Amino acid sequence: MKVLVVGGGGREHAICWKLALSTRVENIFCAPGNGGTATCHKTVNVDIGVMDFDKLIAFSKEQAIDLVVIGPDNPLAEGIVDSMEAAGLRVFGPNKSQAKLEWSKAYAKEVLNTLNIATARFATASSQQTAEAIVKANQWARVVKVDGLALGKGVFVCASEEEALQALNTIYKSGKFNDKKVVIEEMLNGEEISLLTLCDGKTLTPLLPSQDHKRRFDDDKGPNTGGMGAYAPVQLYEEHKDAIQERILKPLQKALAEGKLNFKGVLYIGLLMHREKSSADNSGNAQPYVLEFNARFGDPETQTILPLLQSDLFDALYACTEQTLDKQELTWSKQSSCCVIGAAQSYPDSSSKGEAIVFPTSGDFNNHTDGQIIFQAGTKLLKAENGEQLVTDGGRIFAAVGLADKMADARERAYQLITTVQCQSLDYRRDIAKREATCQSK
Ligand code: AMP
Ligand code: GLY
Repeated sequence: MKVLVVGGGGREHAICWKLALSTRVENIFCAPGNGGTATCHKTVNVDIGVMDFDKLIAFSKEQAIDLVVIGPDNPLAEGIVDSMEAAGLRVFGPNKSQAKLEWSKAYAKEVLNTLNIATARFATASSQQTAEAIVKANQWARVVKVDGLALGKGVFVCASEEEALQALNTIYKSGKFNDKKVVIEEMLNGEEISLLTLCDGKTLTPLLPSQDHKRRFDDDKGPNTGGMGAYAPVQLYEEHKDAIQERILKPLQKALAEGKLNFKGVLYIGLLMHREKSSADNSGNAQPYVLEFNARFGDPETQTILPLLQSDLFDALYACTEQTLDKQELTWSKQSSCCVIGAAQSYPDSSSKGEAIVFPTSGDFNNHTDGQIIFQAGTKLLKAENGEQLVTDGGRIFAAVGLADKMADARERAYQLITTVQCQSLDYRRDIAKREATCQSK
């Protein structure tokens, strides 16, 4: 089988790496790919951008691609799946109207309300004046979100009315955001869990839950980012498994079965285990709420969980395009995975470009057995006089993944691995999975 993976981040490197382990997959093409997919087993990069639908379709037809897998949110929101399916291709991913669960936060909230799934209280507004009135009239209205895709930058979690009004000014006056519709939410309080699920239109199969670290600096300080690291499995999920099943997964499954919800691809459920602030010592019972949906694999959640998937990823994704997901059983390793993102020092304000970077081994494929894997993201291979040179090309440059029976050892492997990477302006959080490792050892 021949697969085309669309995208060029760490998520796509992990998808190519895992697909290459399938005996059914012969060739993988990654468009545009990165320095890691350039040297990944069975994989070659194709120099076509993720928004160039015509070229991607022409290439897929020419190569007789059996399955196309879409990574990023932008092409999904612009209807890449609709265009490819119209051209007769088999595609893993949601069409434009299904992906609306990600590209319109207001729509996602309406769907959650209709299905009676717990989510933060909200209101929508299309002008600054209306939005300001909502913030002033409601003490709960403190989280302000731009309605459309904003690459993680359109969400403002505010501590006061003043901050929320400032956020609205930034949205409406700074010229940074095209979308002027906002969703204003109640602030929830608790830990988050990323629950990615595979979906074939009628069946929904959860993947291994993981926890992302979204803030830039240690102890969850600094601005929100696309994700500075993640780990799996998550003890907190185990504690709330039944409530998540009853309150969230069951209603979603029922809606799919009854045709009230239509979705194919990865439905990424962003959960927050909300604790009522009124419980004086914060020890009140936490309940799962859905913070958001994404319509794709998460990054860096994918790099974290795919190394623990024992089943064949190609079979599972293919089954989603045939509505036979109910026949696929996914099995997972019992090990722990810790994924630390190596980022540019200036990330998320700016990225690193053209700086030399050297990884401990040239390929990623053999490291797996040592419990250490590098998935590259913002890197590219440049032609140089004496061969090729790997240079930086992004904000999040790579993921160092450690695998071990215990989370503490998985962390140690990830952090040992990251110190062997030579790159001048590299930075990373030192506390990924720290709490989980401490809890496990108690
Ligand atoms: P979103 O893109 O909607 O997931 O928001 C990005 C991040 O902002 C989330 O991962 C949370 O950390 C935070 N956030 C979003 N909505 C809320 C909320 N209602 N209450 C508290 N934090 C939130
Ligand atoms: N790690 C968060 C995301 O992929 O949106």
